[in-house]
Amino acid sequence: TPIEFPPRMAFTGAKRIPDAAHPFIAPRPNDLRGPCPGLNTLANHGYLPRNGIATVAQLTQASQEGFNLGYDFARAVSSLAVLTRGNPFLNLVSIGGASPRLIPPLPGAIDGTPGGLSKHGRFEGDVSMTRRDAALGDPGALDIGMLDDFLSYVDRLGDGDVVTQSVLNEYRFHRFQDSLARNPKLVYQVGRHGFSYGEGGFILNLFADGITHNTTRRTFDSFLRTERFPPSWNRRAAPFEFPDIINAAEAIISAHPVPPGKKNAGGTYVPDTDPRLDFPCGLYYNLVGMGVPAVLLNTTGLLRKNVDKLLMEGIHPLFADVCPEPVI
Ligand code: HEM
Ligand code: MG
Repeated sequence: TPIEFPPRMAFTGAKRIPDAAHPFIAPRPNDLRGPCPGLNTLANHGYLPRNGIATVAQLTQASQEGFNLGYDFARAVSSLAVLTRGNPFLNLVSIGGASPRLIPPLPGAIDGTPGGLSKHGRFEGDVSMTRRDAALGDPGALDIGMLDDFLSYVDRLGDGDVVTQSVLNEYRFHRFQDSLARNPKLVYQVGRHGFSYGEGGFILNLFADGITHNTTRRTFDSFLRTERFPPSWNRRAAPFEFPDIINAAEAIISAHPVPPGKKNAGGTYVPDTDPRLDFPCGLYYNLVGMGVPAVLLNTTGLLRKNVDKLLMEGIHPLFADVCPEPVI
């Protein structure tokens, strides 16, 4: 299936979400859900296919429509999902666990069965806010204890029932300290490190109501526990693009700086010193150069065409200014 990117969403202002055509329906037993509360919510409302299996175009469109995620970033992150944990020949990825029947391995069985976004490594990684590190539990499933811990930070540090910057600053740091103490296999290199702070920024900026600009405790709980749009909720009033995500991530990390790195065999956390991993090109190199299976580049025909399109038209434009040399 040839990959096509959808056109940029036409209206990018605030609006009521969901509309009448997208009611909440709890996932059925075979519907796949995973580590991303945003995508799970979109699937529970039918903005993504309810079975949890989506194309690049569906991911790009749904995350723009439901949350006003910026077009360029939506294209890039959707491309990364299919390249790292999906099947780029079929243009499909599971937002949860593997589906050998609906998403078989690539022709010639290269790279094994696509794991889906719940599979640890490449995209899913350590130090999540509401999912356990893979070495300590199921990295795709909500951990109620972690969510309740997060809510206790809202109760102590929030402004009344509003989730504030300081809630994210403190809870994110707490999550790192916990992984540092308990996960002997901790990996927190620049790609995952950057995403983890970006996802903290998503909670403040994408879960927030587009008219009141607040993320209330109830809104927060609705997205993270039930994975359902809260009543009378509006998506944000302007697209949230890559530079906004970087700013939001920096706001959180600057409260408690933590260097990207990983634990060595002796269990000591070692900050990365490889210059190829320096931000910002290190982010690109880590996610794409190290995260995308090298076997995909040794292919021909439609598969190679799709891979090139995802790499060159999906992801690289986001980094072209600062990292002109593409990984290909
Ligand atoms: C986490 C993928 C869009 C909110 C994740 C994770 C993946 C993912 C794989 C797991 C990373 C980890 O914690 O280990 C994607 C893709 C998207 C997308 C492919 C678009 C195509 C969104 C949107 C939102 C969102 C629109 C809306 C708010 C979050 C949050 C987390 C997360 C808050 C962190 C969860 C936690 O730490 O417990 N995403 N996501 N994502 N995503 Fe998404
Ligand atoms: Mg994780």
